[in-house]
Amino acid sequence: MSVQQDIKRLTAPDILARKGGEPIVVLTSYHAHTAQLADKHCDVILVGDSLGMVMHGFETTVPVTLDMMILQGHAVMRGSKRALVVIDMPFGTYEASKEQAFMSAARVLKETGCGAIKIEGGVRLAETIRFLTERGVPVMAHVGLTPQSINTIGSFRAQGREETGWAKIEADALAVAEAGAFSVVIEAVAEPLARKLTGQIAIPTIGIGASVACDGQVLVMEDMLGLSPRVPKFVKRYGDLGPGIDKAIADYAAEVRARTFPGPEHVYPMKTRKP
Ligand code: KIV
Repeated sequence: MSVQQDIKRLTAPDILARKGGEPIVVLTSYHAHTAQLADKHCDVILVGDSLGMVMHGFETTVPVTLDMMILQGHAVMRGSKRALVVIDMPFGTYEASKEQAFMSAARVLKETGCGAIKIEGGVRLAETIRFLTERGVPVMAHVGLTPQSINTIGSFRAQGREETGWAKIEADALAVAEAGAFSVVIEAVAEPLARKLTGQIAIPTIGIGASVACDGQVLVMEDMLGLSPRVPKFVKRYGDLGPGIDKAIADYAAEVRARTFPGPEHVYPMKTRKP
């Protein structure tokens, strides 16, 4: 017997249908508890491979594995109920062939129950995106600055600042939209280009450092909360949690060292034996 779920999750087609409509709110999360908080306010929760830097302290996203993504994807699915959960495919798990991409994506969908995957790349991945979408894998694409290519591009610099660099990014965005992606992240591109792309393609553009001229926005949660030691210049901080956490840990350490750390009598009265 099937059981009707009380709360229906948003789906990739729901997000696609928002093109040109109500702005799409996307935030990263890698844990059950932060997913629960994000779920109240966001349409999409992205389990980004930025977890390699944020959770594991890597310099880039290149070392991230599929198992890491699946583990954290599980946590986010358990913490959320309503948002569409999209899981990033890490470097080396989809580029070799469309068959490799399908096998990796199928593992992610089957083992986590998430609703879509994200891959980086434009024209060079269009055939793969078509292959995946025709076989039941909803794909969010990612163009502009693609951090997994750090070793070939050399730095995390903004893309398409000069008009001469626009043609490649435009071709990438058009190619992923035509191949069947349900949305596309455009990272670190100048406002006029973001506006042009958003007007040109039939799927929602989700900007990160790409101006307000997009159909939605995404940020790394730890960056906007003020928890990341280094953040890209474009990130607005909506919180300043770093100093608060630092103070709480310092207070705790001081109480332990001064032997003033409250014992169980702080919470419940200690039983004393009658003489
Ligand atoms: O890995 C990630 O968190 C991302 C977003 C920054 C778009 O790809």
